[in-house]
Amino acid sequence: MRTLTVDLGDRSYPIYIGTELLRADLIAPHIAGRQVLIVTNDTIAALYLERVQAMLAGFETASVVLPDGERHKTLETASRVYDVLLERRFDRQSTLVALGGGVVGDLTGFVAATYQRGVHFIQIPTTLLAQVDSSVGGKTGVNHPLGKNMIGAFHQPRCVLADMDTLTTLPERELKAGLAEVIKYGLIMDPEFLAWLETSMPALLARDPEALAQAVERSCRDKAAVVGRDEREAGDRALLNLGHTFGHAIETETGYQSWLHGEAVAAGMHMAAHMSRELGWLTEADLARVRALLAAAELPLQPPAIAPDRFRELMAVDKKALGGRLRLVLLRALGEAVVTGDFDDTALARTLAHFAGA
Ligand code: NAD
Ligand code: GLY
Repeated sequence: MRTLTVDLGDRSYPIYIGTELLRADLIAPHIAGRQVLIVTNDTIAALYLERVQAMLAGFETASVVLPDGERHKTLETASRVYDVLLERRFDRQSTLVALGGGVVGDLTGFVAATYQRGVHFIQIPTTLLAQVDSSVGGKTGVNHPLGKNMIGAFHQPRCVLADMDTLTTLPERELKAGLAEVIKYGLIMDPEFLAWLETSMPALLARDPEALAQAVERSCRDKAAVVGRDEREAGDRALLNLGHTFGHAIETETGYQSWLHGEAVAAGMHMAAHMSRELGWLTEADLARVRALLAAAELPLQPPAIAPDRFRELMAVDKKALGGRLRLVLLRALGEAVVTGDFDDTALARTLAHFAGA
């Protein structure tokens, strides 16, 4: 087992990464009080709920099994969890355990942030995306009909337990979507990791547990470093959004139905790299490396055909926009991202035209 720490003073917490981690001794020290509510969804409950209940046998536990899917990441679903907490008289010393992917993790964290003004929570992420991204860093929230993740809070977990064994049941497409976020760390800040990914992609796609553990560890280490210096996204943390402004536009245009988040981020990172090439920051060879790595992870490179004006309209609804000015995460070099609103707009125009097939 590998252990990393997210360094946030008295809110610091460990990330445990490895196999056979669904063990009482790892989780028990991070539980406040005696009452524990496990929150999961129907897909994951069928696979792992019994094991997690067994590891919490010494506590007074209850479980809430939510319907599966991003469309249930809402205040209404969160309300069902508050109902159980109140009906069962869970007190301020309670602990919530999020067992699942990013949807369950974000929603459970939000309930933990708000129930009785904040209780402890623990993340047991079961998708690659959740293990390398959403379970770490304390961004929690739910969607609003007018915008994704628009209702939320920063609330750090007490520990993260990333068990590689849970990835054995993950659908192929979800695994690849998670790889997009892994590649993101290499591109924004870690050239050595980028090179490792270029040689390790076949092992990752074959779910080699050691390769997966290494990828999760390096991704979490990179993310922990960023979160440690900018927990509330006053600056650097926005770098973690490489490809996300383009990607959100794709997700919104396609109604969050046909594209997985990681797939949209992959095409979005390709677009950001293309624009960085247009700005003269990346070389043609750099851009080819980005394309080759995304293709090796069997991720989509091309967004759906969206007219440039429409793409801009969709991109404008972005939490990074300041005073109406679009800000983008772009690549100064491979392994060195910047967030900037100060770019040559004609480069963006050329990129949008290129991908619209104009
Ligand atoms: P998800 O939670 O919807 O999980 C994907 C699918 O895989 C679901 O159907 C789920 O039931 C299933 N699943 C999960 N684990 C499984 C397993 N081990 N075996 C079989 N099936 C399994 O999607 P996701 O990609 O994990 O997360 C996406 C969400 O994360 C989005 O809502 C996004 O906004 C959020 N997110 C949050 C942050 C953050 O910092 N908080 C960062 C990135 C993404
Ligand atoms: N996924 C982006 C962040 O955690 O900041």
